[in-house]
Amino acid sequence: MSGRLDWSSRAGGPLHGSVRVPGDKSVSHRALMLAAIAEGESRIRGFLEGEDTRATAAVLAQLGVRIDTPSAGERVVHGVGLHGLRGAAQPLDCGNAGTGMRLLTGLLAGQAFDSTLIGDASLSKRPMRRVTDPLALMGAHIDTHDGLPPLHVHGGQPLQGVRYELPVASAQVKSALLLAGLYAAGETEVVEPHPTRDYTERMLAAFGWPIAFAPGRAKVEGGHALHATDVEVPADFSSAAFFLVAASIVPGSELRLPAVGLNPRRTGLLQALRLMGADITVENEREAGGEPVGDLVARHAPLHGVELPEALVSDMIDEFPVLFIAAAVASGTTVVRGAAELRVKESDRIATMASGLRTLGAAVEETPDGAVIHGGRLGGGTVESHLDHRIAMSFAVAGLVATEPVRIHDCGHVATSFPGFLELANGCGFALRGAG
Ligand code: S3P
Repeated sequence: MSGRLDWSSRAGGPLHGSVRVPGDKSVSHRALMLAAIAEGESRIRGFLEGEDTRATAAVLAQLGVRIDTPSAGERVVHGVGLHGLRGAAQPLDCGNAGTGMRLLTGLLAGQAFDSTLIGDASLSKRPMRRVTDPLALMGAHIDTHDGLPPLHVHGGQPLQGVRYELPVASAQVKSALLLAGLYAAGETEVVEPHPTRDYTERMLAAFGWPIAFAPGRAKVEGGHALHATDVEVPADFSSAAFFLVAASIVPGSELRLPAVGLNPRRTGLLQALRLMGADITVENEREAGGEPVGDLVARHAPLHGVELPEALVSDMIDEFPVLFIAAAVASGTTVVRGAAELRVKESDRIATMASGLRTLGAAVEETPDGAVIHGGRLGGGTVESHLDHRIAMSFAVAGLVATEPVRIHDCGHVATSFPGFLELANGCGFALRGAG
């Protein structure tokens, strides 16, 4: 982790230019894991050089996988085959990454050796029973600390496929079960209450594993092989989100975000912002590496509050912090419901956003599964990131329209998902400075 680092963000002029955001975090994690247990050499382009995804690469290296870095944003993974991973003597450190830890737990449940997974202070508080309970139904044996990391995954447990209905929509849990399902006898079927991102399913198919999937369900059976393939990682919509909101709220702005991944399970914020009156268009829609991508163009437009349709929640689960900023400066009131999952992200995002916004003078009421945000003007002040990258970047966006500077404590975690955010942001007109 980068050390303690505060930021100060203040209003400047309109935002202009083209902003090339880094590779998708979800796709980068999965590409590494599947390539690691495939047969042959896979090349990953557009790989996210974030701390989260680098932690996953380091874990796979500890498990005996050779991963070369020919250039920044590129990895060549020398796959060891489904049964080629080797046990590691030391704990496997997933850093801040819930995706890394949960998916690796599924992958490791089917191995012949024991593993211990650890994480940083934020990850060590995140619930893991949602993964270990269904894996136990498959025959896995995993010790937790009262449902929290560290996790000790016992090797040599024969796995049996199950049909599992997820109580909460989660692509991480779904993916963990599908990865364990590769090692299980018979079929593993996962059914979700709301469809979530389907990168694991698409990528398993791309690596040649037979899989049946449709929005909200997926089914694999054990006993096949993965074959190396090249993966092109699109730019991360969740990183683009900060710039979509920034351009929307700063008068006179126009930003272009090229080649952003537009998987429909990720773009709920686009719909939410359009409902609020945003002017965002998609140009050059195309397919790259089996994923829809396009160039996003966001222009300033007056935003108004909305009752956010609950159907959008899973498709924008990582974008709520910055949506809260948009809502706080929109005219009228925005109501968010059905989003209790926000309480178990890198921080309790309902509580951390509500308290930060109140510090800046906004009127926000928390509810158990959402918030009521009354739009108005934001003032300055000092807010906490709570070791959560998306909280830090969201308040950097807030500073653009606040009447006084916004100081954000502890922004080092931004490097988990968005290395280079400060430079990119300043390049298009933010006034964001390190504040020691
Ligand atoms: C992710 C799924 C989401 C998301 C996270 C990445 C993934 O988590 O919040 O940032 O890559 O599968 P949940 O599946 O727990 O909702």
